Amino acid sequence: VLGVATSPRRGATDVLVQAALLGARSAGADTKFITLAGQTIAGCDGCDRCLDVGHCVITDGMAPIYPAMLDADVIVVGTPVYFGAPSALCKAMMERVEGFGIDEKALRFKIGGALAVAASDHGGQESAMAALHLWFQINEMIPIGITTPGAGWGVGGRSVEAEDILNETVKATATGRSILVTEAAWLYGAKLVTHATIVRAGIAATGLDLPNRPYGADLPAAFPDDISQLRLESTHPALTPGWSTPVTTAHESQE
Ligand SMILES: Cc1cc2nc3c(=O)[nH]c(=O)nc-3n(C[C@H](O)[C@H](O)[C@H](O)COP(=O)(O)O)c2cc1C
Repeated sequence: VLGVATSPRRGATDVLVQAALLGARSAGADTKFITLAGQTIAGCDGCDRCLDVGHCVITDGMAPIYPAMLDADVIVVGTPVYFGAPSALCKAMMERVEGFGIDEKALRFKIGGALAVAASDHGGQESAMAALHLWFQINEMIPIGITTPGAGWGVGGRSVEAEDILNETVKATATGRSILVTEAAWLYGAKLVTHATIVRAGIAATGLDLPNRPYGADLPAAFPDDISQLRLESTHPALTPGWSTPVTTAHESQE
């Protein structure tokens, strides 16, 4: 399990990511923690060289992150909320996997976990975590939300002073019991490992060959003819009639 904290300072986000990694360790996983604090990571400059060579050609603080991502079955990313969105460092990291994630599909089937810390209630934790979920999805990763202690995209924390994160509590919706937000992150980290274990076993069980392929190479040489038989307001002959019968509305049946 790789945990990346994407705050430019060693504060609350660092703590929340580490809490998730402790949970992952409790579930038997090996963990690696990377903080981007003090690192310089440029945003993508759109040169598209990565689409030829399979990796980004900019050399900076991203260098150690690529192999760590490649090694991981789970990538849990924590971001501070900056104006309702992930930090610029976080966004830079997200952009810089273009060749790696999209062309090489190196992140495919990895489990994605999201953590976010803002100063305010409703300060943008959800929108920041949603941005991470989109990044996971576009990389064909498997984004995982949370149902305990409450339901959400991941674990969102609140911290005005960095140390606030150590004392913040969250009430479990089912029992009303209050636990620390770091404990919620711990539960989430353990849960991400369960998902990764299932996915890893599933991949092994199918025995599917999953080669990395160049961008767009998964298109079939030709699509089956029946696609061209689709017609407006009729049911394709290959589809089960009972299932695909057009619905008659109550209004229409009265007429
Ligand atoms: C540039 C900037 C923008 C911020 N934007 C928001 C915001 O939109 N909503 C919010 O609640 N907090 C906002 N904050 C507060 C941070 O999210 C909060 O301090 C968080 O704990 C930072 O995490 P860290 O301790 O890991 O750096 C902002 C802070 C900075 C520096």
